[in-house]
Amino acid sequence: MVAMRTRFTELIGCRLPFQLAVLGGVGTLELSRAVEQAGGLGMVPRLVRVPEPRSTALGKGFLIPYLPPLEEVVEDVRGLRVAEFFWGEPQAAIAAAAHSAGSLVSWQVGSAEEARAAEAAGCDLVVAQGVEAGGHVRGTQPLDELLAEVLSAVSVPVVAAGGIGSAERVAQLIAAGADAVRVGTRFLACPECDTHSDYVQALIAASAGDTVLTDHFDGDGQWPAPVRVLRLSLEGAIRARNRGTAAPSATAEAPLAMACYAGLSVEHVREVKPAVEVVRELMSLVG
Ligand SMILES: Cc1cc2nc3c(=O)[nH]c(=O)nc-3n(C[C@H](O)[C@H](O)[C@H](O)COP(=O)(O)O)c2cc1C
Repeated sequence: MVAMRTRFTELIGCRLPFQLAVLGGVGTLELSRAVEQAGGLGMVPRLVRVPEPRSTALGKGFLIPYLPPLEEVVEDVRGLRVAEFFWGEPQAAIAAAAHSAGSLVSWQVGSAEEARAAEAAGCDLVVAQGVEAGGHVRGTQPLDELLAEVLSAVSVPVVAAGGIGSAERVAQLIAAGADAVRVGTRFLACPECDTHSDYVQALIAASAGDTVLTDHFDGDGQWPAPVRVLRLSLEGAIRARNRGTAAPSATAEAPLAMACYAGLSVEHVREVKPAVEVVRELMSLVG
């Protein structure tokens, strides 16, 4: 893969303007290492332990509603390149804690206003998440509109996220000024991901119109927030009276009655293939 320099690659110290999305419940260390070895920034969800040594292009994502005490965050991210936060007001104390562990700080945002707050809190980069995204969706704007607004609102590097599934889309976003792209759904059908096989088959069979943004998966009132899932899993969950936020990992018992998160990018999930090939395909038109 051809290397490409952007403010993101310079800041992170990687070869490609590419970030694996945090994939709660199904993302693995193996998947993030594969993306890292392909030249991008690999990310793991909070509960995945990263063994030493940690001095490479890896990061860990935290959801603010489930944020552990800051001392634990510091220990968790020490030696990792990036500590990332999502779904909560950007806070200087959180950014300072992650900085004290030697990590760069990223915040995934859903509006230009939130991006400004993240920069003011001391973040080194922001992720602009369009409404096309799979999983928890922070904002209401389509990515193109949001990206333009965020790029003019902040001076830190901006990563574009949400519904990115093809090399053409990646090239378009880089040309529009994104410092990198962040991709989640496209990696759910990789053998390195801990996705249940029924969920993988449902993703392969789905097109963008088969996803739906819903408030149903609110953890029984614990975390009311809109998520984008496969419609068939919403129907299954309503029948099973399941409102839990967990995505179906490989050992789940009723995978299609759980939150099968998927972005509009599901359109481009067509087969099971290794993460390095997904990165190669998506980056084939830039550099
Ligand atoms: C299965 C799944 C789980 C996700 N879990 C998280 C999470 O735990 N933390 C987070 O910051 N974002 C999470 N996201 C959202 C991603 O960070 C990102 O915004 C999204 O994947 C981008 O859209 P795409 O899936 O169309 O590429 C998740 C997305 C998916 C598909």
